[in-house]
Amino acid sequence: MDKIIIEGGKKLQGEVQISGAKNAALPIMVSALLTDGWNTFENIPDLVDIKTAKRLLKSLGVQMEGDGALKINASQIDNLEASYELVKTMRASILVLGPLVARMGRARVSLPGGCAIGARPVNLHIKALREMGAQVDLVDGYVEAKADRLKGAEIFFETVTVTGTENIMMAAALAKGKTVLKNAAKEPEVVNLAEVLNGMGARITGAGTDTIKIDGVEGLHSVTARVMPDRIEAGTFLIAAGITGGDVTVCGCDPEYLDALIAKLIDTGMEITSTEDRISAKRRGPIRSVDVRTAPFPGFPTDLQAQMMAYMTVAEGLSAIAETVFENRFMHVGELTRMGANIEIQGHTAMVKGVPRIKGAPVMATDLRASASLILAGLVAEGRTEINRVYHLDRGYQEIEKKFSALGADIRRVKV
Ligand code: UD1
Repeated sequence: MDKIIIEGGKKLQGEVQISGAKNAALPIMVSALLTDGWNTFENIPDLVDIKTAKRLLKSLGVQMEGDGALKINASQIDNLEASYELVKTMRASILVLGPLVARMGRARVSLPGGCAIGARPVNLHIKALREMGAQVDLVDGYVEAKADRLKGAEIFFETVTVTGTENIMMAAALAKGKTVLKNAAKEPEVVNLAEVLNGMGARITGAGTDTIKIDGVEGLHSVTARVMPDRIEAGTFLIAAGITGGDVTVCGCDPEYLDALIAKLIDTGMEITSTEDRISAKRRGPIRSVDVRTAPFPGFPTDLQAQMMAYMTVAEGLSAIAETVFENRFMHVGELTRMGANIEIQGHTAMVKGVPRIKGAPVMATDLRASASLILAGLVAEGRTEINRVYHLDRGYQEIEKKFSALGADIRRVKV
């Protein structure tokens, strides 16, 4: 497995182009299952999770061409099962459940099982499909669902769930009658998916609010659509500017989707200016500590919590970082501590006492965003940081070491 080696201490400077959003690309690719004919999806990032999604769709019989502009044709679906082997590598595979039941009347999808960042169940996806009239059974570790035709229903999500909202929105697009999703996820990726579905002929309103209304239609047609920029990748580079005391412009992003992060970064002492699709961020003075509490959009994203924690390890003062979305998302704490950070976990909150400097070390992380936080820590640490299990980074960051290197970081990938 590859390693990433960083010699810390370089201030980042320059411009970086943001790739397409993984978390928008995955449901959008899956939405092709609702149509026959060739769909074209532009700005698909080059990531391991996207390759997994391609394998999953191909395993169902779907035809595919291209990469960045990906063409998908699901007129032939000859397998209705998402195997354990695929779902265990990528939980988002559960997204095929709703579309397959809606279009084919049946689906068998492996339960994702445990996950490094908490239990992450899919009970709300299942409950909603049942409310739409599907018969859903759990058999041998698989969710087996069937319905002649799903019926519109009023569904209340007791917890805000992003892929749950997406799954049921896709299913409802082909259901008979009207579906109302209450306490729906408001994430921009949900909005991007709704736009794509409406381009296919779906009748969805309210995406981006907590109430989404879907008037089911008889059929959907193919579409050409574009995946939004990755707000988590953009946020990671903005934090990198802060932690290194650099001056970085992230290009091709949506600043409006990063309000919660930008407000915090300004509080840490950074100067931030944005235009329609660029954000420039720099820090000259000391790093002021800030408290952070993750929450569903428009709150502070849980997917940037680990990176923000890396930043706070070298701030002046004490920072309380509360994780409210996932119960076990502090695996990076142990590794950051090995680099000299002073962090104490109290329940769902990490108390980070800033230290003047952290030191490079061999580290390893067990999830995607935790790995990104170790890169950020490595950029500011004294000496060499060696990040193992780069596999996790490749799931969600396109050419991360090349992008950091172009900004002046001393970072390289070593093939092992
Ligand atoms: C998505 C994102 C992930 C992000 C997360 C929260 C994708 C592919 N992944 O994950 O990067 O970190 O949103 O912003 O878009 N829950 C239940 N029952 C369910 C579903 C969820 O209890 O049926 C709970 C989860 O355990 C968690 C919370 O709801 O505590 C939010 O999870 P959810 O929004 O579903 O996360 P994902 O959609 O898996």
